[in-house]
Amino acid sequence: MPMPLIAGNWKMNGSLSLVETFGQALADADLPSRLEVALMVPFPYLESASRALAGTRAVLGAQTLSDQPAGAFTGEVSGEMLREVGATLVLVGHSERRTLFGEDDSAVLARVRRALEVGLTPVLCLGETLEERDDGRGETVVIGQLEAVLDALEAEQRHRLVIAYEPVWAIGTGRTATPEQAQAIHAALRRRLAAYDDGLAEKTQLLYGGSMKADNAAELLAQPDIDGGLVGGASLKIDDFLAICQSAG
Ligand code: PGA
Repeated sequence: MPMPLIAGNWKMNGSLSLVETFGQALADADLPSRLEVALMVPFPYLESASRALAGTRAVLGAQTLSDQPAGAFTGEVSGEMLREVGATLVLVGHSERRTLFGEDDSAVLARVRRALEVGLTPVLCLGETLEERDDGRGETVVIGQLEAVLDALEAEQRHRLVIAYEPVWAIGTGRTATPEQAQAIHAALRRRLAAYDDGLAEKTQLLYGGSMKADNAAELLAQPDIDGGLVGGASLKIDDFLAICQSAG
């Protein structure tokens, strides 16, 4: 069983004072011993968050990165810069990046490669739309997004990813996948990972994301192939976030 991981994705939310609140509360919290915690904060808060989380069990993540190492790319942020301010993880292929910012599978692959090159752990996000699910194509779409990245990587690189299944129709909508729906896709992902190599299936952390909350986290996390959560809205309230962390232990 991979180590459980609860990752908070603040998206374009939060403040410096919320960073301090989280740092303090996570330092004081009595978290389950078998648990990893991560916080993905907006770029301007990374450095403060790195300091605020230093005395805690939580590690720091960013929400995206450039596919380029450096240069004339106004507004972009490189993987090296993220490393320099203390990030160890980075989200890649979040559905909001795919739909709002036009990142297709090849853009996602380029960012995964950059993250791996600089030693960041990519948290590769996958998920189908409601239309795709209703057409009976949910699993095919999700496995296709996985293969678009993993087929292009070396075996050793595949071992350095975290995977997050986030059905698009469940993100920020309050509509959570049922534990059975989420488990079915997670099991399919695990089977596909096993076809690359058994060790990969056993060790890759498969997170569920999409309206995970304090009151539904335990039953989702109890599923055999759900190893943790990628939490959006509920990661902005410290009590909710800590409650989700407790359910993962
Ligand atoms: P949500 O977001 O928990 O607010 O649905 C999850 C995510 O987009 O990572």
